[in-house]
Formats: sequence, structure tokens, C-alpha cells
Amino acid sequence: MEEITIPLLTPYKMGKFDLSHRVVLAPLTRQRSFNNIPQPPAVLYYSQRTTKGGLLISEATGVSDTSQGYPNTPGIWTKEQVEAWKPIVDAVHMKGGIFFCQIWHVGRVSNYGFQPNGRAPISCTDKPLKAQLRANGVDVAEFSPPRRLKTEEIYQVVNDFRIAARNAMEVGFDGVEIHGAHGYLLDQFMKDQVNDREDIYGGTLENRCRFPLEVVEAIVNVIGPDKVGIRLSPFANYMESGDSNPEALGLYMAESLNKYGICYCHMVEPRMKTVSEKVECPQSLLPMRKSFNGTFIVAGGYDREDGNRAIDKNHADLVAYGRLFLANPDLPRRFELDAPLNKYNRDTFYTTDPVIGYTDYPFLESST
Ligand SMILES: Cc1cc2nc3c(=O)[nH]c(=O)nc-3n(C[C@H](O)[C@H](O)[C@H](O)COP(=O)(O)O)c2cc1C
Repeated sequence: MEEITIPLLTPYKMGKFDLSHRVVLAPLTRQRSFNNIPQPPAVLYYSQRTTKGGLLISEATGVSDTSQGYPNTPGIWTKEQVEAWKPIVDAVHMKGGIFFCQIWHVGRVSNYGFQPNGRAPISCTDKPLKAQLRANGVDVAEFSPPRRLKTEEIYQVVNDFRIAARNAMEVGFDGVEIHGAHGYLLDQFMKDQVNDREDIYGGTLENRCRFPLEVVEAIVNVIGPDKVGIRLSPFANYMESGDSNPEALGLYMAESLNKYGICYCHMVEPRMKTVSEKVECPQSLLPMRKSFNGTFIVAGGYDREDGNRAIDKNHADLVAYGRLFLANPDLPRRFELDAPLNKYNRDTFYTTDPVIGYTDYPFLESST
């Protein structure tokens, strides 16, 4: 019988990790972590999406008490949060999965209500964000004017990331993904439409990338480069965080990251105009793919066909799937069989229910 190779289902060695396929769970905020503490239903949610040798990236997880900007998102800065993550990570490991924790700081995408003692959110700037419709299309997110970090305060935020990474190791995660995308704190520093600083963290490309690279370096020094990934979205301008020369920014970061020898670089496709809207466009991540020495992960609007094509043409090593994986816990198996997919329900992306829209998406019949 003729064997047909499905590129997405071929094994891949990511540094020291032996992956059995290329279908990665993208980081997905689900807002079910009350009081910033991961809850027991997450054990089932993540373990449903685990395959032996599959890579999972956790939802964005706060590094400190100033890092939050959305209700019920998890953190990893307190002992209680660390303990709450442990059974979730254990469940993924029991099934042979490889689990990276995405760590973030939202910066100015926040308001007084999320901040300790009602203080102003921190950022590279004091330029406020306009109120926005939340991704659920119903609620309006209000942002408070941020406070521009002083030069001498920045190392403290770097340190928060470092401690969060160390905590992730204590939990038992296999690595961390630094969230440098989508208009949050690291992205705010990188993008010239937000960063209006006049110190060594603003102005030139090199200066704007200094803080994100200091975060990378600090984490590499504490947990080792083989356990570090970063997510970037140079082309996106979510949360009013755009850049006048995204190609140069993406390339500069890809090349600079090589110095630290990190495990992977995870880039969001330029076609992702918003977090969920796919628009075909001529820009490409290929130059960044070519200049980065480690594993290159792409994400954004991929289906089975163009995911296979990306791997086949060597445009990426791995493809991360967000909404399709959210709605299809057995996505790699479905891709293997070319089986039909469950449709995702946007209305339950961010609701608090521990089951509905979370752990109740059906698997294929087990007889197949
Ligand atoms: C419900 C939802 C939550 C998301 N949460 C995160 C997140 O926590 N961190 C992140 O980097 N991206 C987040 N994203 C973006 C996804 O990781 C992904 O890049 C995006 O959905 C596009 O990929 P897709 O077309 O495969 O869904 C989220 C997207 C959705 C739909």
C-alpha cells in the first residue's frame, strides 16, 4: 500500500525535545482562572489537547501583580498560582506532551481596576489607549492612562519575567514562551508607534528592542536557552501597537535572538489583521525564518492544507493552531485522517463556564 506522508504529522526535533508531529497548540486565553489562579477544569482542557510528543503552549500567564489586564487570567508569581499549575502540567506530562508556559505583561492594556492599589498601568509611554470592544464583541474594555516606566525601573520588570520563568520551572513546565506579541508590554517597547522614549530604551530599533532582549537574556541565564521561546508579531498593530517598518523589526529580532541560542521563535503571520481576522497580504515571514537559527513556529489562520504546505516548503518547522485546536481537542488525529472539524463557538471563548465551550468539544468517534 502506498504511504502518503502528511508533512504536519512528521516528527521533528526541537532542540532537546523529540516532537512526534508539527501541530502545536497555540496560546489561548480562556479567562477561567478565578482570582488569577488556574482552576481544576484546566487539567482536563489541556490533557484533552495533549498527544504523545505534541507541543502545547499555555494561555498567557501573568508575571507579576501589575501584569494583568483581563478578568480571570492566570498568573505565575505567587506560591498558590505555582501550586495550582502543577496538576495541569502533570496531566500533560502523563500523556507525553511537551508544555511551554506563555508568560506576559499587558503593559498599558489594563486599567486601574486590575492594578495593585488602583495605580496606573505601566508602559514604555504615557500615551493612553482608546476604549475598545473586547474580542467577545460585547464588552467594552476601558484603559487607564499608563505611567511611563523610568529608565531605572525597567530592570525590575525584567526581574519579574526572570522570576516567573523560574517559577515555571518549579511547576514542571518544559519551557517558557515570552509573549512579545499583540500589543502587550514587550511589543509596546518594540513598536515605534507606541514607544516615544528618549532614553536607551527608545528611539533606534536597537534601543526599542533592548528591553525585550534583556528579558530574553535574563531568562536564558536562569533556565537555559534550550527552554526558551518567544512570540512576536512585528506586522500586527493590535492595541494601537504598530510599527513603520515591521520587516526590519522582525529581522532585527530574529538575528539578535540568535545570540542567545534560544529554542524557538514563534511568529504571527502578517495576514492576521486582528487577533482573528485573516486577510491575504503580500508580506511574508520568510526572511525571518531564514535568519533565525532555532526552531521557527508560525501561527495565524492556518488550516490543514496551508499548514502542510508551510512545512513541505520549509517555510516553518512547526505550525501553531489556535481556534481549530480550541474546538478540536484531537486536531492532530483529525489532520491525519483528513476528518471534518468541529466549528468553534466564539461566544464561549472567554466565558467562565468550566465545561461549556471549554472541555465539551467532541472527539472523533474512537472507532475510527
Ligand atoms: C480565544 C483566543 C485567545 C487567545 N489568547 C492568546 C494568548 O493568550 N496569547 C497569544 O499569544 N495569543 C492568543 N491568541 C491568538 C492565538 O494564539 C492565534 O495566534 C490566533 O488565534 C490566530 O491563529 P488561529 O487562526 O489558528 O486561531 C488568542 C486567540 C483566541 C481566538
